[in-house]
Amino acid sequence: MAFKIGVIRGDGIGPEIVAEAVKVLDKVAEKYGQEFDYTEILLGGASIDAAGEPLTKEALETAGKMDAVLMGSIGGNTTTSPWYKLPANLRPEAGLLAIRKGLGLFANMRPAYLYEELKAACPLRDEIIGDGFDLVVMRELTGGLYFGERRTYVEDGIEKAVDTLTYGEDEIRRIALRGFDIAMKRRKKVTSVDKANVLDSSRLWRKIVNEVAMDYPEVEYEHMLVDNAAMQLVRDPKQFDVILTENMFGDILSDEASMVTGSIGMLSSASLREDSFGLYEPSHGSAPDIAGQNIANPIATILSASMLLRYSLNLDEAADDIDAAVKKVLEDGYRTVDIMSEGMTQVGTREMGDLIVERI
Ligand code: IPM
Ligand code: MG
Repeated sequence: MAFKIGVIRGDGIGPEIVAEAVKVLDKVAEKYGQEFDYTEILLGGASIDAAGEPLTKEALETAGKMDAVLMGSIGGNTTTSPWYKLPANLRPEAGLLAIRKGLGLFANMRPAYLYEELKAACPLRDEIIGDGFDLVVMRELTGGLYFGERRTYVEDGIEKAVDTLTYGEDEIRRIALRGFDIAMKRRKKVTSVDKANVLDSSRLWRKIVNEVAMDYPEVEYEHMLVDNAAMQLVRDPKQFDVILTENMFGDILSDEASMVTGSIGMLSSASLREDSFGLYEPSHGSAPDIAGQNIANPIATILSASMLLRYSLNLDEAADDIDAAVKKVLEDGYRTVDIMSEGMTQVGTREMGDLIVERI
C-alpha cells in the first residue's frame, strides 16, 4: 500500500530544500520497497500568488487526506515582498497558522541538539557546552495568544490594540501528556515553562501539568518561569531534556534553543496530534535572501523527512538510516556554507542531498 505524502514546497529556499528531502525519501522507498505517493499542496506566498490566499479550503482538505505532510518554509521578506502589503489574515504566516489549526496539530516538537562535528558553530563557551546538550521543546501550537481574539480600535482618539491569551484545561492536558510521553522515551525530565507569577493562564497551566505529572512517577519534573528559562538556556542548556510550554513562549524559546546549537540549518520539527498524522518542517525560515542560489542547507528538511517516517509512517529503520547518513556526511567533512569551517569541503544544496542519498 502506498503512503500518501503531502508536499508543501513553500517560499524562498523552500522548493530547493524540499527537493533534496524528496530525493532522500525516494531513496529509502527504493531501499525498503515502499511506495510514496506525493501530492503537491500550496501554502503561504506560493498560494497567495496562485490563488489569492495563503491557504485555500481545497488545499486544507487535500492535506487532511494525507498520511503525513512534508513542508519547506513559507514567507518572504517582510519589508520588500508584496505579500506583506496584504491585510494580516491574507499574509503567508496566516496560512501556516490556519493549516496547523485546521489539521488540529496541537503538539509541536522541536529538537535542539549539538552535533559533535559542529561544536565549532556553537556560540557558547566550551565549559558551558561540556559534552553537548540534547533537548526538545514541546510547544503548544493551536491555542493561546496566536489564536485568541484580537483587534485594533480607536478609543477616545487613541489607537489601541488587544490580543487575548486563553487556554482550556483540555488543551493544556493533551500537550502535557505528549510532553511527558516524549520524556519517557528520552532522559525522563520535563521542565514546564510558564509565567505563573503574573498570568492566570499560566497558573492553570501549572495546575494541569501537576495533575498530569502524577501519572508519570518516573519523570522528574519542575516548573520554570519563562524569563528564567530564557536565561538558563544560554547559561546551562545541558539541564534540559523536554521543555513543555505554551504557544508564544515555545515560539520564542525554540528559536533561542536552535540558535544556541549554532546550526539552525540542521534542526527539524514535527507538528503532531493524537493520531499518527503530522506535518514536518525545518525549524528555520524561508531565507528569501539566499533563495535559488543552491547554497541553502537541506539537512533540517531531510531530518524532518526522517521524523515523518518515524512518527507518521512507523518506518523507524528508514528514519535511522537517514539520521545515520546525515551524521556520516558530516563525519566525512562535507558542509554547506552556513556550517562551513576550516578544513572541510563546502558543497551546495543539491550536492549535500546527493551525498546523503549515497550514504543510505
Ligand atoms: C514558527 C514561526 C511561526 C510561528 C510564524 C511564521 C507564524 O515563527 O513556526 O515558529 O510563530 O508559529
Ligand atoms: Mg517561530
